Amino acid sequence: MKRIAFLMVAVATLAGVVAFTAPASGHADEEASPIYGVKIPAGYRDWKLIAVDHLLVADKVDQLRAQLGNDIAIKAFKEGKVPFPDGSIIAAIHWTRVPSEDNNKVLAGPFPGALSFVVGSPVNVQFMVKDSKKYAATGGWGFADFKDGKPGDKALHETCFACHTPAKDRDYVFTRYAP
Ligand code: HEC
Repeated sequence: MKRIAFLMVAVATLAGVVAFTAPASGHADEEASPIYGVKIPAGYRDWKLIAVDHLLVADKVDQLRAQLGNDIAIKAFKEGKVPFPDGSIIAAIHWTRVPSEDNNKVLAGPFPGALSFVVGSPVNVQFMVKDSKKYAATGGWGFADFKDGKPGDKALHETCFACHTPAKDRDYVFTRYAP
């Protein structure tokens, strides 16, 4: 009996240790983006919608894109305040754009010739994380690009900030809050 009690304590202790060392985000083994060290923020897929857009580069890119923000970013977007406060995170999810035959069939009756497009497969997800001290050299933003959960290389991350500088007046953010 004594031995069983000891075993139970040992197991419980071990379980406690495992639970304690397990990361809160569940992303312990995940890699961070080069240069900025940004990991995929936990729960970002449930953040609120900022806007959507469509990117078309003939024969190369045809994507539907959505921008989501954490609570700090959403508040700043709604108030139209720049710079964004520290802790703001913007996520940009990119998918292929594909025609929907199902939708087209339904729409063809009332809207002959209607073409409905929907989200296809995920392409990548990008993040901008505001930390005015840590990322002072890049407008206060840390950048990250992930494909299948893996960050892109250093060369890719060297392109982010430079290309966002035309939006300097809006704190390097292009997307406007969709009403
Ligand atoms: C060639 C220029 C260019 C490069 C390079 C670039 N971006 Fe952007 N980025 C844009 C433009 C334009 C938009 C808005 C339109 C859109 O959604 O594509 C945007 C939008 C974003 C957004 C949504 C917030 C916003 O500013 O509208 C995020 C997040 C983002 N980019 C992250 C990144 C990351 C991370 C990298 C580097 C891996 C990167 N970008 C590289 C031009 C660029």
